[in-house]
Amino acid sequence: MFSPKVTISPPVVPEWKDHPKRWGHPFHPMCSYMAMFPPRLPHYFIQRFTHKGDTVLDPFSGRGTTPTQACVEGRVGLASDLNPLAYVLSLAKVDPPTYEEAALRLQELESGWSGAAVREEAAGHPIRVVYHPHTLKQLTYLKQALTDSRADTFLKATILGIMHGKYRRSRDDSIYLSIDMPNTFSMSPGYISRYVREKKIQPLPLDVFEKTGDRLKRLFRESVPVARGRAYQLDFRQLHRKIDRGSVQLVVSSPPYLKVVKYGLYNWIRLWFLGVPATEVDETLDDGHDLPPYLAFMDELLLQMERLLSPGGVCVLVIGDVAQKGRPPINLAAAVWEHAQPQLGLQLIDLVADPIADNLKVTKIWNKTRGQATTVDRILVLCKGDRPATNNARVDWSR
Ligand SMILES: C[S@@+](CC[C@H](N)C(=O)[O-])C[C@H]1O[C@@H](n2cnc3c(N)ncnc32)[C@H](O)[C@@H]1O
Repeated sequence: MFSPKVTISPPVVPEWKDHPKRWGHPFHPMCSYMAMFPPRLPHYFIQRFTHKGDTVLDPFSGRGTTPTQACVEGRVGLASDLNPLAYVLSLAKVDPPTYEEAALRLQELESGWSGAAVREEAAGHPIRVVYHPHTLKQLTYLKQALTDSRADTFLKATILGIMHGKYRRSRDDSIYLSIDMPNTFSMSPGYISRYVREKKIQPLPLDVFEKTGDRLKRLFRESVPVARGRAYQLDFRQLHRKIDRGSVQLVVSSPPYLKVVKYGLYNWIRLWFLGVPATEVDETLDDGHDLPPYLAFMDELLLQMERLLSPGGVCVLVIGDVAQKGRPPINLAAAVWEHAQPQLGLQLIDLVADPIADNLKVTKIWNKTRGQATTVDRILVLCKGDRPATNNARVDWSR
């Protein structure tokens, strides 16, 4: 059933595993995002299956890894995600200002800051435990002052990236604005309050303008991506309203897993800065499905990708195996393909296993029983038609 209909030479091999973890443009690690993949992965497929000027889409763009990498390599990177956090991060990277524009705007915002007119969150609001009152006042001012302009979107994304994280050597040289906490996700408000009380933690009065300025310098230490892209805040089912049928040469994406991550709840601190309630985000995303609705959702996704791909276009989906209590894990990628293929004009190129280091899987950070993800991702590689329009033999790993 899974014998590929399309044979390519050389076959797809997970070469991205052989390159350093930090490989990629400085924009990639601007802000951590749950279940993000490394830029090495889209890079491999961009090199194999596209030319300069082609269009590369991720309909679940998260922190924007695929479209950003596409822009770095002279392709048009299209990002879309329904989550407002993902939208801001993706847009900032595919349509960035210059360093000078961003730094000048930060200076302008700093000169408008007096602290006097800021309406603070009411006593008892969980955000008050995360920051020193001075830092929180500056964040609240910026939350109200930042607009949707190109420079402001970039500043928003930069600040989102430093809103919380773990201290490296000591709390005095942390790049983050919060008390010591994970960077990838927000701890629950109840947990943070207990932790702060029990450990008698006093947040430091950190200066948001200074930390953001430092971060901007790091982000712009290389030149900005050579091509510009576009970003949408859309349900993937609506993408044909923005992107022409048959206009995309490559899709590289990781759809939300089966009941694994609550993108709203676990990002409540960053969503507070964007002024969006976390519950509102979780109500709209496709991250709570059981298996049968999940397969129907993936059918819809594949039909939509088939519609947007050009003839010979390639669709790459990263799908993790899912653990079940007392039974072997589900090979979700195989289940997705088996369910969807009878109605599709997409053909299988390959289904490649991509084992992930145990400590890197997002649900393992919480504890072993909490999530349903396992340590194997599978890469489903599909083609519109009988052979890919582009199939470059070699992947260039120089940067
Ligand atoms: C596994 S994450 C993608 C991470 C991304 N590959 C990266 O490197 O950051 C899946 C994404 O799907 C988004 N999502 C969930 N349901 C969606 C929907 N119906 N339409 C668009 N995006 C959705 C979530 O907000 C989340 O960002």
